[in-house]
Amino acid sequence: MSIFARLSRGRSVAIRPMRADDLERVREVGQIAWSDLAMQDIGRRFRYPKRSEKLISSYMATEPGGCLVAERDGTIVGSAFCHVWGGIGWIGPLEVLPDEQNTGVGKALLSACERHLEERGCEVIGLETMSHLSKNLHFYLSSGYAPTSVVLIMERVMRDDAVHPHFVEEVTAATLPSVLEDITRLGQELAPSLDHAVEARMAVERRMGSVFVSRRDGAVAGFAILHTYQKDEEARYSSIKVLIVDPDRDDQKEVFDALLDRCEQASASAGKDHVLARLSAMSPELYQHMLSRSYLLKGANVRMVKKGKYEERGIYHITSWAG
Ligand SMILES: CC(C)(COP(=O)(O)OP(=O)(O)OC[C@H]1O[C@@H](n2cnc3c(N)ncnc32)[C@H](O)[C@@H]1OP(=O)(O)O)[C@@H](O)C(=O)NCCC(=O)NCCS
Repeated sequence: MSIFARLSRGRSVAIRPMRADDLERVREVGQIAWSDLAMQDIGRRFRYPKRSEKLISSYMATEPGGCLVAERDGTIVGSAFCHVWGGIGWIGPLEVLPDEQNTGVGKALLSACERHLEERGCEVIGLETMSHLSKNLHFYLSSGYAPTSVVLIMERVMRDDAVHPHFVEEVTAATLPSVLEDITRLGQELAPSLDHAVEARMAVERRMGSVFVSRRDGAVAGFAILHTYQKDEEARYSSIKVLIVDPDRDDQKEVFDALLDRCEQASASAGKDHVLARLSAMSPELYQHMLSRSYLLKGANVRMVKKGKYEERGIYHITSWAG
């Protein structure tokens, strides 16, 4: 079903759920929008890679009503994706063709995403955006979002020094059902109603990468989700989507290191030479620790929330709402 939004200059746009046959156009719109942003941001021509088909199809399979396109006169001019992690709903990426920007298409998509997350019962609605872009800050601040934290983008160039960690096992399709409850429990230890079960399922079942769990004394003490799906485009990178350790454990740092070691090792075996991690800047201790592990700061996003309160407990975790 489409929702029609009236825009400036008497124009209107239809917002509707994405379909499988939209995929190529959605990839094209994303490439054009982000290449244009790169040109404005860094002042030089840069052709942004098209978003992976596998990623878009996984988003559509996981949250079908939350993957939206904006259509004008039958042509897709923008798109947006919603994600539901338990009671936490977040939005991203969201993009509009440069020639169609500043007429209200972005806000029409954003409102439709918020409606979807409300209908899905999310207690928190938020997103992350680049902290240095005045347009993006205005776009979200004027839509009712308030900054809650800074998220650091850190990267490590892989060397041939990956260590084999102990107490970490890779989750397979057969073992996934036995760890989902632990993944849910650990998310909720970090923030009320946070649940990465759907993200873990997507990584294993749709082969986006790997899920690792660390067991201590028979109990799951932490888990990590590593994305390695970027095969042809951005082929050099893997990305640690989530790494969570039980914040009440005394050995948090050891469990974190074991999981990080395993992610690095898996990245190296998948032929990646860079590992990317996005983590909260609210803990200088974690930042220092990542520096000591040869991660370098590449940039920062600002996390913004419109509905509810979101706060993470503990120090040693990697989480991001970047789509
Ligand atoms: C961010 C984006 C989705 C917004 O889409 P859009 O269709 O232009 O959005 P809208 O027209 O609804 O709103 C744009 C707002 O920014 C304002 N704006 C435009 N340029 C601006 C600038 N340089 N500084 C501050 N505000 C600016 C407009 O006036 C408008 O605000 P208003 O509604 O209060 O008048 C679009 O710019 C885009 O695709 N950017 C590239 C990808 C990206 O950054 N996505 C977001 C990642 S989190």
